[in-house]
Amino acid sequence: MTKPDFELTLEPGTNERQTTRALLPDAVYRNMLSRLSKSRKPAPIRHLFPYENEPGMISMLAGKPNASVFPFVSLTMKVRSSNPRIDDSLTDLSLDGQDLAVALQYGATSGNPELVKWLTDLTCHLHGSQLDEGWRVTIGSGSQDLLYKTFAALVEFGDVIFLESPTYPGVLPIVQALGCNIIEIPSDADGIDPASMASLLINWPKDKPYPKLLYTIPFGSNPSGSTTTLSRRLEVLRLARAYNFLILEDDPYYHLYYGDIPQPPSYFALERKVNGELGRVLRFDSFSKIVAGGLRLGWATGPEVLVNAIDLHGSSSNLQASGMSQMLVLRLLRHWGIEGFLAHTAMCAQFYREKRDLFEQYLQKHLKGVAEWSPPNASMFYWIKLRLPASMKAENIENDEGDSLLFLTEKAIPGGVLVLPGECAYADGRRICNVRVSFSLLDEGSMDEGLRRLGSLLRE
Ligand SMILES: Cc1ncc(COP(=O)(O)O)c(C=O)c1O
Repeated sequence: MTKPDFELTLEPGTNERQTTRALLPDAVYRNMLSRLSKSRKPAPIRHLFPYENEPGMISMLAGKPNASVFPFVSLTMKVRSSNPRIDDSLTDLSLDGQDLAVALQYGATSGNPELVKWLTDLTCHLHGSQLDEGWRVTIGSGSQDLLYKTFAALVEFGDVIFLESPTYPGVLPIVQALGCNIIEIPSDADGIDPASMASLLINWPKDKPYPKLLYTIPFGSNPSGSTTTLSRRLEVLRLARAYNFLILEDDPYYHLYYGDIPQPPSYFALERKVNGELGRVLRFDSFSKIVAGGLRLGWATGPEVLVNAIDLHGSSSNLQASGMSQMLVLRLLRHWGIEGFLAHTAMCAQFYREKRDLFEQYLQKHLKGVAEWSPPNASMFYWIKLRLPASMKAENIENDEGDSLLFLTEKAIPGGVLVLPGECAYADGRRICNVRVSFSLLDEGSMDEGLRRLGSLLRE
């Protein structure tokens, strides 16, 4: 193997993998890293943290505060059962002693080791992964934090990247600031369209670098609500292998799938079955939609070199995700076990399915004839194409369908209904008549009234 053109040093104990069994060679990943990432130096103190755990070590290393001056002595939380519809009992879970000490103290950049192990086991359970394949998990302050660090680690000014389009509005400011060349890959009710990606790649200009990565949201995409079908996933994986790009699989809605057909496997799971080669998928999961958004906890799973680069960024930015949030979740997960966790997420999916069904009824009641939509099979979003009134259309644009931003500011907000204008889900901020509507928080009365208002504004 050729010597890599740089060395990436990391906190000992979390760095170089011992096995090269399944993934692409480490040098391939190293060559994908941005100049910024390659030039990052390990944080001097964090780099030495793992030596504190060596038997007999007396550590005078870090500025860790002495917990005896902290005000917290114990914490008790009441938690619901994993399916409150069947069992409405509450359980007291307390945090004290060593658990509380760990929660209150600085910890490893990659996360609480027990929680990392739990999520690693979950990955094996859900995605058919094995422990010694060369991937690992790191925990961040929500998947937003991990996505930010990942794009910074991989993307260079001028690089070409593919974005599923429309895309998560929260990712656009990240990639736009990096000055990369964004190519939007359209999606429809069946998710991202690999045929359009294939035709771009087949006709790729000889003098232009190929795309480095694809960013996609495979379940209940934000904002389109669409779930990518199995056959499209397979085609995307085939293209990733043929044209050597990474897939950033942003999957906060994985556990909120409620479609009628069995849930398609993740890219992370499928890759091992179809490509005969592992290591082009970096997954992003989140506790935000299933446990609590305010905890700010997510996790990234993928090739060690890339996850190491995320951690190296973390070790000089936010240092780690909140120790208290991690311990609260860990305490809950110890109590539930994987089975309880999955019972809980199944309950969440069922909750959103029922909300989707109800919302669909009111869409039919109020928006029929003035809008078009496809019901989502996961998550909490409808992507609705509004048939805007003539006053919202430009006379100087042929066949103009209108601008949902104008509709929002001139009609919807004054009319007491708030939706997200579609333009913020496109890198070019294009004029578009679609809006994203989230039904997660609405009770039946608000669905009825909110959609009635929208319908009557469209009919004005
Ligand atoms: C597609 C997508 N990715 C990432 C995030 C950020 O999630 P987190 O709360 O884990 O940072 C969201 C939040 O809505 C999202 O919809």
